[in-house]
Amino acid sequence: LQDTELFSSKEEDSSLYFTYSGGRNDLEVKDLHYEIDTAAQIPWYEHLAEFKNPWGKKGEKQTAISNLNLRVHSGQMLAVIGSSGCGKTSLLDIITCRDEGGKVRHGQVLINGTPSTPKLVRRSIAHVRQDDRLLPHLTVRETLAFVARLRLPTHFSQAQRDQRVDDVIAELRLRQCAHTRVGNSFVRGVSGGERRRVSIAVQLLWNPGILILDEPTSGLDSFTAHNLVLTLSRLARGNRLVLLSVHQPRSDIFQLFDLVVLLSSGSAAYCGAARDMVPYFTALGHPCPRYCNPSDFYGEDRGGREWEGEEEEGRDERRRKERRREGEGK
Ligand SMILES: Nc1ncnc2c1ncn2[C@@H]1O[C@H](COP(=O)(O)OP(=O)(O)OP(=O)(O)O)[C@@H](O)[C@H]1O
Ligand SMILES: [Mg+2]
Repeated sequence: LQDTELFSSKEEDSSLYFTYSGGRNDLEVKDLHYEIDTAAQIPWYEHLAEFKNPWGKKGEKQTAISNLNLRVHSGQMLAVIGSSGCGKTSLLDIITCRDEGGKVRHGQVLINGTPSTPKLVRRSIAHVRQDDRLLPHLTVRETLAFVARLRLPTHFSQAQRDQRVDDVIAELRLRQCAHTRVGNSFVRGVSGGERRRVSIAVQLLWNPGILILDEPTSGLDSFTAHNLVLTLSRLARGNRLVLLSVHQPRSDIFQLFDLVVLLSSGSAAYCGAARDMVPYFTALGHPCPRYCNPSDFYGEDRGGREWEGEEEEGRDERRRKERRREGEGK
């Protein structure tokens, strides 16, 4: 009991319940080019029906990510933003060696100077994926207690493990559903946003040096989303590396990012400090309209072409046609 009291009193004063005491981490993506073989998804026997040689055929390739460079280190939060289907999940999956169905043509991912391997990733990176993979019949607290027993170092006492679980539940505001089962699409359990936060809690629990989250704010209301990103930015201040993908963040969330990569159809339209993004595009001749959220304005899917001015013409043309059609209708 004494031990518990000691532990809680020490942690109580700091809102950042566990700072990362490991060394400095560094993540680098160099000249990455990733392709998806769309023809490989068609089973080989379907080619037999077409009287084609199933082995000889070379399928067409779809480029998911091209020529991407980025670099982050501990203490920074990098956000990958962009519209749906621009390659955010693919990028995060390649970094953590969990990509399926595609091939890295060239380029590499370096974690502290060494190429990323599944073993290295398991040791140093916590990855919260876009879809939640949790056991549906455990309650929220049971899920976290289970992970605490598996992932925390062996020298942790049971009281310390429980304390850590309590801290994470408090930090992610899961108190009111701590004794509800998690559920999934078949078993009704906690709400979608709560399940999202449980997935994040599972990864926060073991105090990783590098934290990668795929769309952590999707399905959350704006207040909770803001609080969550605030927590993540505090974690980054506590000497961690946080890499997250967000689908068009609100401006108050955008301000919390240190670095931003704006993906557009797999290539980076902008990569650098978050506060320099608007000046950069303004200098290119694309100022953000007043009272408009920069991530909404620049994150819109323009097929990566508008920045050279081609798409702009196409869009004007389309608008003119629409207007003409409306006029005819009247
Ligand atoms: N294994 C795969 N097989 C087929 N297509 C794939 C595969 N992986 C990625 N893609 C394609 O690559 C593109 C990028 O997918 P990705 O999942 O990275 O998008 P995203 O930016 O995460 O989108 P969202 O915001 O909707 O999650 C999509 O067009 C997708 O269809
Ligand atoms: Mg995704």
